[in-house]
Formats: sequence, structure tokens, C-alpha cells
Amino acid sequence: MSNPSEAELIHMFKGIPFTTRSSPELLKSLDTFDAREDDVLLVSYPKSGTHWLAGVITKLYDTQVTLTSPIEFGDISKLEELNKVSSKRIIPTHLDYHMLPPNFKNKKCKMIYISRNPKDTAVSMYHYYRDNPNLPTVDTWTVFFDLFLKGDVVCGSWFDHFLSWEEHENDKNILFLFYEDMKKDLPKTVKEISLFLGLNVSDNDMQDICKKSSFSEMKSDTEKENSDPGHTVCALTSNRKLIFRKGAVGDWKNHFTPKQNRRFEEIFNEKMKLSKM
Ligand code: A3P
Repeated sequence: MSNPSEAELIHMFKGIPFTTRSSPELLKSLDTFDAREDDVLLVSYPKSGTHWLAGVITKLYDTQVTLTSPIEFGDISKLEELNKVSSKRIIPTHLDYHMLPPNFKNKKCKMIYISRNPKDTAVSMYHYYRDNPNLPTVDTWTVFFDLFLKGDVVCGSWFDHFLSWEEHENDKNILFLFYEDMKKDLPKTVKEISLFLGLNVSDNDMQDICKKSSFSEMKSDTEKENSDPGHTVCALTSNRKLIFRKGAVGDWKNHFTPKQNRRFEEIFNEKMKLSKM
């Protein structure tokens, strides 16, 4: 980040790097946000499958719901904008648990946290950094690998993010999902989500939802602009075309050197020693 204009892309809030797409005023005002009991939060560390999950969830409802932009994206007018949404709100966020507006916790709003193998998340994020003008330039994978492990990337440390949410894995209003499980058996995960949300979905609809949520369908919808190309559920870009890259499990093997893998595992084991993951 030697170039000053690049340095201006990022600011720190409570020790976590945010892009300037999340204004400091908005971040400061989040604690005053007035949640509604029927809000559903869609929570993730970036590049964990947020858009995939959002695609599934919105298709599950047969009543009107509004998938908003992320709560931390925008300026101070954001909270007012969300207040004006009259239908049920599905609200995405990359915030860690400690930064979540307390009202969501007090009102026991339903929250779905999606996580992904952090090695694949790191690779996905590396490509995102390279393609996304809202993020600082990173020249090589080697450089990015170090930044990721140090938590010196947008939204901070993957480990801190995951652990802050995992502490609440037994809260009845929080459902934990894994990208890899969705890849392995999407119908099973979709069923789990519909039960959690209290929705009755027929087997036929379920099949249709899974078909429409495949990587190829979602990517081609975006290319054909069947879905709004200027609307994302990521606070780091509004360009949907940057989202659908490869959609695979295990792409880290094409990027990690054996030495990097050993280092990652060491840090993972140390940081996650109290985790059940
Ligand atoms: P890759 O960069 O590894 O391809 P997010 O939505 O949180 O930004 O996550 C983006 C990642 O999810 C990208 O990973 C993207 O390709 C993948 N993804 C998006 N839709 C998907 C789908 N329908 N099936 C599988 N992976 C999907």
C-alpha cells in the first residue's frame, strides 16, 4: 500500500480494516440500529459463499422479502434506508459477532453463518483483491498469503471472525453452514435452511431451487444480467461479475506451496485449538 490513493481505500475501525465503502460514521452508528424480530441475517467472512446462500434463501420464500445490501455498506443514511424497507428483510453482513448491532442479539433474530475452508477462502479473496478496484493492489500470491495469515485484509482475521461466531454455535437462533457441505449435498443443506426458517417447501420446489442455485446457472444469470448486475451482498463491490469465479472446493492446492501449507496448518492449529471445527 505504498501509493497514497490506495492507502485511502482502507480505514480501521475497532482494529478491523474496512474499505471506505463502509463509512466510519455508519460503523459508529450501527449500535443504534433498530432490528425487527423477523429480520434474517446472512453472515459470512468475505468469499465464503455469501451470494450462493443469498440466492438459495431468497428463492425459498413465496412471500415478498427484500435482500438488502450489507448493513455495513454505505454512509450514515444507510440505517434510515433499511428502516424504510416495508417487507421482511434479509440482511447480509461481514461483521464479526462483537460488532453486530446489539438489537439483533436482543431480539433473537435468526442468523445464518456460512463458513468455508479458510485455505479456499484465502485463494478466493486473493483473486478478488486482484480484480476489485475497491481493494488495495496485491502483486503476488506470496504477499497476499502473509497478509491473510496476519489478518491484514478487509474484515480482519478469518480466525477471529470465525471464533467470534463459533462461540454462539449453540444459540438457537443461529444456524451454522459450511460451503463444502453445500457443494457435497445442496438439497440437504437447503432442507436444513428451510426448517430453520420455518418454511414449507415442496420437493419439486426444492429441486428447482437447487437447480437454479448451481454455480453455472448463477454465473450465467449474472452474465445474461438476469439478476441485477449492480447489486451484491458483499460490502466490497457492487459488481456481481466479480463474484462467480470458479466455485470449487480445494482450489488452494493450485496455489499453496508445501511450505505455505505447513505454515497455514501450524497457525490454524494454534488459533483454533479451542475450536470444535
Ligand atoms: P471462488 O472465488 O473460489 O470461485 P462470496 O459470495 O462470499 O463473495 O463468495 C464467493 C465465492 O463463492 C466464489 O468462490 C464463488 O465462485 C463462489 N460461489 C458463488 N456462487 C456459487 C455457487 N452457486 N456454487 C458454488 N460456489 C459459488
